[in-house]
Amino acid sequence: MFESGPRIFALFGNPVGHSLSPLMHHTAYGEMKIKAVYVPFCVGNLEDAVRGIRGLGISGVSVTIPFKSEVRKHLDELEESSDRIGAVNTIVNEGGRLRGYNTDWIGFVRDLKEFMPIQGKTFGVLGAGGAARAILFGILSEGGKPVVLNRTAAKGEVLAKEFGCFFLPLSEIGVLKADCIVNTTSVGMAPQIENSPLEERALGKFPWVVDIIYNPLETKLLKDARKAGCRTRAGLGMFVHQGAEQIRLWTSREPPVESMKRVVRKKLEEYEKN
Ligand code: ATR
Repeated sequence: MFESGPRIFALFGNPVGHSLSPLMHHTAYGEMKIKAVYVPFCVGNLEDAVRGIRGLGISGVSVTIPFKSEVRKHLDELEESSDRIGAVNTIVNEGGRLRGYNTDWIGFVRDLKEFMPIQGKTFGVLGAGGAARAILFGILSEGGKPVVLNRTAAKGEVLAKEFGCFFLPLSEIGVLKADCIVNTTSVGMAPQIENSPLEERALGKFPWVVDIIYNPLETKLLKDARKAGCRTRAGLGMFVHQGAEQIRLWTSREPPVESMKRVVRKKLEEYEKN
């Protein structure tokens, strides 16, 4: 523990080498004039790592793949949304008591609201994994109507039942009437940028298509959707807003969202040129 040094924040994941979170967080703390460091840790033993939060006096931790679900059992308390979603992406160290939060759904909702209403709209949510759970929670909490679309029916049905919404097999997307499609699968994420979870001809009838993937900035799904005449939204905004919410939880201050977005976008554009 530093006695009068900077506040320490951390990222727990495996791998973490390519994460843009350190860049985004440092940009925010610099602009907010907060003395803080944000350290990425490639975690081997999660239980030991969580013990280190208390032992070292780390103020807050971002949690990423593959630990968002597993980390819950090592914490003292779970905030309601993280409990319902079954995933923690943020830990707050409150004087040695570790509380788990989920800011992914908040990031999604904040970004979506910048460009479309949620209340009363129907959303086809593609995928039935951990990411889908956060998206379903977000849509439902804002009065939207989600329909789970999944390749494997059994998995999709269980998820839809748990969240009290409809299920449709992905192969039957042709019959779906929805205002927006949200991709929560990792299909199309770098380096597999040529892949898309949907064929271009399935897309044209949906007014909006959203991808929660932020690398690449425009996935094949979004490129196809744009060509098919849909309005599109990439995952960059959700990524930045989930990080901004972490900073609010850790500092009780308003982070510079636009600067955070600018610096992450610039880095992703550099990746695309190389
Ligand atoms: P996460 O927890 O990160 O969301 P996951 O649990 O591996 O990831 O979930 C991945 C989701 O993407 C699953 O719903 C999966 O569908 P299946 O249940 O049928 O496996 C979906 N998915 C993966 N590859 C896909 C593809 N090529 N087309 C459509 N859906 C796909």
